[in-house]
Amino acid sequence: MIVCKSDRELSYMRDAGRIVAETHKELEKAVQPGITTKELDRIAEDYILAKNARPAFKNYHGYPSSICSSVNEEVVHGIPSLRKLENGDIISIDIGTEINGYYGDSAVTLPVGDISSEAHNLLRTTEEALWAGINKAMNGNRLSDISHSIQVYVEDRSYSVVRDYVGHGIGSQMHEDPQVPNFGGPGHGPRLRPGMTLAIEPMVNQGTHEVVTLGDKWTVVTKDRKLSAHFEHSIAITEKEPEILTKL
Ligand code: MF3
Ligand code: CO
Repeated sequence: MIVCKSDRELSYMRDAGRIVAETHKELEKAVQPGITTKELDRIAEDYILAKNARPAFKNYHGYPSSICSSVNEEVVHGIPSLRKLENGDIISIDIGTEINGYYGDSAVTLPVGDISSEAHNLLRTTEEALWAGINKAMNGNRLSDISHSIQVYVEDRSYSVVRDYVGHGIGSQMHEDPQVPNFGGPGHGPRLRPGMTLAIEPMVNQGTHEVVTLGDKWTVVTKDRKLSAHFEHSIAITEKEPEILTKL
């Protein structure tokens, strides 16, 4: 069941989303060669708690940390560790918060120092694919118009979209109906209506779309160990343009 949010619920989601965006800003300042992903997790957790919010990922189905930090061939759900970031790495940082019972969820992939032009193109394409999807998040469109537009954007540029993980509704739960795949034909699924809130999150690979989960039961990596990038915003459908809840 897809829940359309009231104005009061949307205002709580704006609070959660703003804290996510501010936390991303703090981490962007901190990402550089030599910092560990655990240090990034600490900065994020301290910031979120100082805002009287809760890091939504921590203890979610037993997840041990406040952020997901996925480096290079890691696609999603990388666990912060004592690994030091190195010049030329790319790192996906995924952050979720909850405040007053409502959630925000957003991810970006950042360059560490100087990265290759191949890595840069992957980051740019993935972020642009997210916006291609968001641009279809319009009252009256169908859900799969978002999915289709992301897939076409990515595959036109010879990258692949991950199939095994998808975006999702978000609200009083971090994961709500509907699922939001990053692939599929246009014109299917529920019609988008004002008050629907979605986390749209393309995961884009340089090589095969296939992924595998490592022995830690969380970290998802590309099967061919080529690079992967991930961008995500939580958005609300309105009468007009979508409202980006996780942007300052
Ligand atoms: N942001 C992820 C998502 O959208 C959630 C991370 S899973 C967790 O599904 F376990 F780390 F919380
Ligand atoms: Co999400």
